[in-house]
Amino acid sequence: MVAAITVIPGDGIGQEVIPAAQAVLAALDLPLVFQQAEAGFGTFEYWGDALPSETLAMCAASDAVLFGATSSPMTKVAGYHSPILSLRRHFDLFANLRPTVGNGIDLLIVRENTEGLYSGRERLEDGGATAIAERVITARASARIVRLACEYASQRRGRLTLVHKANVLKETCGLFRQVGLDVASEYPDLIVEEMLVDAAAMRLVFNPVRFDVIVTTNLFGDILSDLAAGLTGGLGVAPSANIGTGRPALFEPVHGSAPDIAGQGVADPRAAILSAAMLLDFLGHTDEARTVRRVTYDTPHTGGTERTCQAIIDRL
Ligand code: NAI
Ligand code: MG
Repeated sequence: MVAAITVIPGDGIGQEVIPAAQAVLAALDLPLVFQQAEAGFGTFEYWGDALPSETLAMCAASDAVLFGATSSPMTKVAGYHSPILSLRRHFDLFANLRPTVGNGIDLLIVRENTEGLYSGRERLEDGGATAIAERVITARASARIVRLACEYASQRRGRLTLVHKANVLKETCGLFRQVGLDVASEYPDLIVEEMLVDAAAMRLVFNPVRFDVIVTTNLFGDILSDLAAGLTGGLGVAPSANIGTGRPALFEPVHGSAPDIAGQGVADPRAAILSAAMLLDFLGHTDEARTVRRVTYDTPHTGGTERTCQAIIDRL
């Protein structure tokens, strides 16, 4: 079966690291076909739409999406919506899998991807003097993310850490915690623990090797996964997968568009290549995924995107 992959480089270094990841995939001689699609701030400035309907249609018709990064302004721009948030919501890609490997660390953060503080429900009151964000947590989304995390923990070292802040956020984190513990109790072979997010941040720095699978809400997972990336090679080697119940799934480096180094040809392509390895796993090419991962972790980034990519392809 030929798998269709939609490739969305996006903005900034997405334009550099995604072609590198595609080149690695193409070098494997697997039945994959690629189609290029547009999204991002550049697309918004040109077309007035950050995620054109053509791009959505191409994604919908494909098995997997390889996504770079897009630039999002720090302030509100009328008509602009973050393409990655829209894609996650549109395809109900409810789980964001963020592995961290290296320095004796092998942990997986399973981040809820559809709600929490990223629900997009923000408003101003008092003529702009008060800003309010609604944090939406549902039993349904909490149950399915924790169930998925339990499945991964069962295939790994059997340890699940449920991270929340239920001592303060009694309703939202309270619901996530209660539903999470209920679901986890269906997995008697797992060692299940819970941890407050601030303590989890400290322990990740202090003793990261103790963690196997961490499951948490959207914003906490976003922050902790960058922290975890910093414990190994940094954002240059941090991949991720966004998965739902079917196809397509979407694979992207954790990093953003890195405008500070964009256009210089120096971005580390390994996070994008490791994301492509997760894509291979998803498509069932597990041997090739393992090989790409091993070679990529063994190849240093020499400072040039194309040079590092070529060194990886040569070793494959
Ligand atoms: P960033 O991840 O783009 O960059 C943070 C720092 O890490 C920068 O100093 C950058 O040069 C460095 N860096 C990141 N990836 C690298 C790589 N592959 N090789 C070498 N160095 C690398 O995060 P930042 O600066 O906070 O955000 C920049 C833009 O990216 C913003 O507009 C933000 O909204 C967007 N962003 C987009 C994401 C997405 O599309 N999924 C995710 C995160 C940020
Ligand atoms: Mg992030």
